[in-house]
Amino acid sequence: MQPRDYDLEALWMPFTANRQFKAAPRIFVAARDMHYTTEDGRQVLDGFAGLWCVNAGHGRPQIVEAIRAQAGLMDYAPPFQMGHPLQFKVAQRLKELLPGDLDYTFFTNSGSESVETALKIALAYHRARGEGNRRWLIGRERGYHGSNFGGMSVGGIPANRRAFGNLLSTVDHLPHTHDLEHNSFSRGQPGWGAHLADALESRIVALHDASNIAAVIVEPLAGSTGVLVPPKGYLERLRQICDKFGILLIFDEVITGFGRLGAPFACDKLGVIPDLICLAKGLTNGTVPMGAVMVRKGIYEGLMAAAPENTIELFHGYTYSGHPLAAAAALASLEVFEEEGLFKRAAELSPYFEDAVHSLRELPHVIDVRNMGMVAGIELESIPGKPGARAYEAFLRCYEKGALVRWTGDIIALSPPLIISKNQIDELVGTLAGALREMGRQ
Ligand SMILES: Cc1ncc(COP(=O)(O)O)c(C=O)c1O
Repeated sequence: MQPRDYDLEALWMPFTANRQFKAAPRIFVAARDMHYTTEDGRQVLDGFAGLWCVNAGHGRPQIVEAIRAQAGLMDYAPPFQMGHPLQFKVAQRLKELLPGDLDYTFFTNSGSESVETALKIALAYHRARGEGNRRWLIGRERGYHGSNFGGMSVGGIPANRRAFGNLLSTVDHLPHTHDLEHNSFSRGQPGWGAHLADALESRIVALHDASNIAAVIVEPLAGSTGVLVPPKGYLERLRQICDKFGILLIFDEVITGFGRLGAPFACDKLGVIPDLICLAKGLTNGTVPMGAVMVRKGIYEGLMAAAPENTIELFHGYTYSGHPLAAAAALASLEVFEEEGLFKRAAELSPYFEDAVHSLRELPHVIDVRNMGMVAGIELESIPGKPGARAYEAFLRCYEKGALVRWTGDIIALSPPLIISKNQIDELVGTLAGALREMGRQ
C-alpha cells in the first residue's frame, strides 16, 4: 500500500465512531460496477449499493459522461427565477414514472432536505386552504427521516435525538411495526400488524384532534432502523384513516425509490398512493447529491390558487435545487434504469435473493431474517449490555473478507446494486454466513 499523502485527523466524519475509525481506517479509492477498491488494492463486493443509493452499480459510463458533458457546458444556473432545460426534463420524466397524479417535482439536494420540504409543503397547503391549525406532524417510532430538525423530530431513533433536546414540539409518533414474536422470519410482508395503523385514529386523532393534524410521514419500508417490512394491510389502513380526517400522507421513499423493492417505487409495489413522496439517493444513482419531493396535483394547484398573481407561491428552496450536474446525472440514471430494465430485473431476482438470505436462518446468533425486493435484514441476538456490538463485528469480518454490508443496531442490512448477479448474491450471503459461523465458534 502507498503511504497516505493526507492526514485523517481534521475531518469530522458523519454518523461514524471517529476515534475508532481513525485507529483502523477503511478507505475506498475507486469503484466500478459491483466492486469497490480499497487503498490497499483489495476488491470489496458492494452489498449495500454504497449507502442504499448506487442502484445501477458504480462508474456507469453513461452517467459519468452526462455529468462530464454538463460540467463543460454549464456548471451552474440559479434556480430562483431562472431555469435550465435539464431540471424540467427530469421533472417530466419523474411525472411519467410516478403513479397517480404525483405530477409535480420540487428539487432538493438530499433525503433530509426532501423531508423538510415535504413537511413544509404540507403545512403550507393546509394554511393556504384556511386550515392553518393543522400543524401537528405525525411520524413513527423507529422511523428515519434524515438528520435535519423536522426529520429528526418526526423520526423515531432515540440516539438521533438524545443530544439535541426537544426539537419540534407539535410532533407525535405512531408505534413501530417490528415484532419478532409475531413476525420473525417473514418472507415479504408479515401477516401480523395491520391493526397498529389504527393508533392514528384511536390515539393520535383522539388526542390531538384531526383539525390540528397536518400530515403523517412514514417510510413504506423502514430501512435505516433495520429493514422493517410493513405488515399486510397496514399502509392501506393508514391511507384510509388519513383520507377520513383530511390528513396528508407522506411516504419517505428515499431508500425504497428507484427499484429497490422490485417496482419503480414502494407505492407501486404496495399499492398505496400517498400525497407526497420524498426521494433522493437512487435518483442520481448516488453520483451527485440530489433529492426531490413529488407532490399530487391538487396540492400544487391549491398552493398556486391561494397566492396572488405574480407572487412567489412557496417561500422555500435551495441554492442547488435542480443543479445542472445533478439533473444531468438524474436524467442519465433514469435512462440507464429504463434501458437495462433494472426495476424489472430487481423483481425477477428477488425470489433468489430471498432464498439466499433465508438460508442464514440457522446460523449462530441469528434471531430473524426479513426481506422484500432487493433488501434484507438479518437480526442478531444482542450481547447483553453491548447493543450493536455483534452486528458491528459481523460487518468488520465481512469487510475483511471482501464484502460491504451495513449494520444498524444488531441488524445487518443487505441492499446490493440491482445489477448484482446470482453468483454475487451467493458470494455476498456466503461471506456473511462465514463471518457468522466464525463468530459462533468464539
Ligand atoms: C428514509 C430516509 N429518509 C431520509 C434520509 C436522509 O437522506 P440524506 O442522508 O440524503 O439526507 C435517509 C437516509 O438514509 C433515509 O433512509
